[in-house]
Amino acid sequence: MRTQVGIVGAGPAGLLLSHLLARAGIESVVLEARSREYVQQRVRAGVLEHPTVELLREVGLADRLDREGMAHQGISLRFEGVDHRIDFADLVGRGITVYGQQEVVKDLIAARFADGGDLRFEVSDVALDGLADAPVISYTDSGGQRRELRCDAVAGCDGFHGISRGAYAPAVFDREYPYAWLGILAKAAPTQHELAYSHHRNGFALYSMRSPEITRLYLQVPPDTDIADWPDTRIWDELAIRHAAEGFTLNEGPVLEKGVTGIRSFVAEPMRHGRLFLAGDAAHIVPPTGAKGMNLAIADVRVLAEALTAYLTRGEESGVDAYSDTCLRRVWRAEHFSWWMTSMLHVAPDGDAFTRRLQLSQLHYTVSSRAAATSLAENYTGLPYA
Ligand code: APR
Ligand code: PHB
Repeated sequence: MRTQVGIVGAGPAGLLLSHLLARAGIESVVLEARSREYVQQRVRAGVLEHPTVELLREVGLADRLDREGMAHQGISLRFEGVDHRIDFADLVGRGITVYGQQEVVKDLIAARFADGGDLRFEVSDVALDGLADAPVISYTDSGGQRRELRCDAVAGCDGFHGISRGAYAPAVFDREYPYAWLGILAKAAPTQHELAYSHHRNGFALYSMRSPEITRLYLQVPPDTDIADWPDTRIWDELAIRHAAEGFTLNEGPVLEKGVTGIRSFVAEPMRHGRLFLAGDAAHIVPPTGAKGMNLAIADVRVLAEALTAYLTRGEESGVDAYSDTCLRRVWRAEHFSWWMTSMLHVAPDGDAFTRRLQLSQLHYTVSSRAAATSLAENYTGLPYA
């Protein structure tokens, strides 16, 4: 079988790329290792920056997002028991929207099927060949049948653990951090409207939410943490300690989900090899502190859809040639912002008094200088697309 663009992975990157290409009259097939149910339920990120929301609106994907997404005009940096609000609306005139990644994925899958899109779930043993000039993706379909998909270009949207990046030898820039995040999803109504990033001497904690009934909460923990050592009562107690502030109460409720995720920074360069184009987590990872992961994936495929459209409809190569450099500029800005937020807010296990004084100084500066707060707001709400 043949298609114009073979897409590996049905996360936000692969699905949105397929949607954008279809709008430009370009055919694609999406191959996904997991089931539709699995990708729709997987709990991941939850913050959409302003340019992401605008793009989803522009391409007809924001009906439910506009009804159910929670518009936020700021965040709180909480340290020494005091909240310092970063007022996005005042500083940069735009905000963010809290809407779960799996909700974006559900909307994208529904839209692709409604438009007659070709999404194939539960495929295995995906392999890439002929990437120099005549790509072939071979895979085993959900019925166990070996198949081949010939295409003009391949989009590697298969996340950090996918196979696409392994098809060539990109240069890799990698940093691991000496901590992880323990996250829970709880059936408990949020007691505050906005997110709180809390810096406490026990470690960082994040207060987030998914809906008026569901809170999403995180704790900095050591990287080798066994979730079995964290019964719900211990999690709630530690959250209460780290988020403690005047006028704040923590609403507890049944824990619907919990897990520990490592934190890393990672970039593969270039993001293109012949007719293979990496997008999203397949090419880069940011620590979650800046809430940039899903937004970067979406920014990549916006550039890629335009470049592939020009190439496949008009034979123009300038867009595909510039793809990697164009994306990497935004990626590295987000890498810096995410690293900076992470370093300012977490407690290094071997952190000495000097490091701690520096962090507190940076926090005080960020909340007291309008220029510093504006820089945070501009990056957090999303820099305009180039
Ligand atoms: N074959 C087919 N599909 C694969 C393979 C493979 N060999 N390996 C992985 N996949 C699928 C995964 O099951 C997943 O559904 O590729 C998809 C990749 O999706 P994501 O990991 O969501 O990556 P991406 O679309 O780039 O979105 C980035 O995800 O990790 C979060 O915080 C991150 O929000 C960011 C977003
Ligand atoms: C989330 O709600 O899951 C979330 C919010 C902000 C972050 C990271 C995760 O920085």
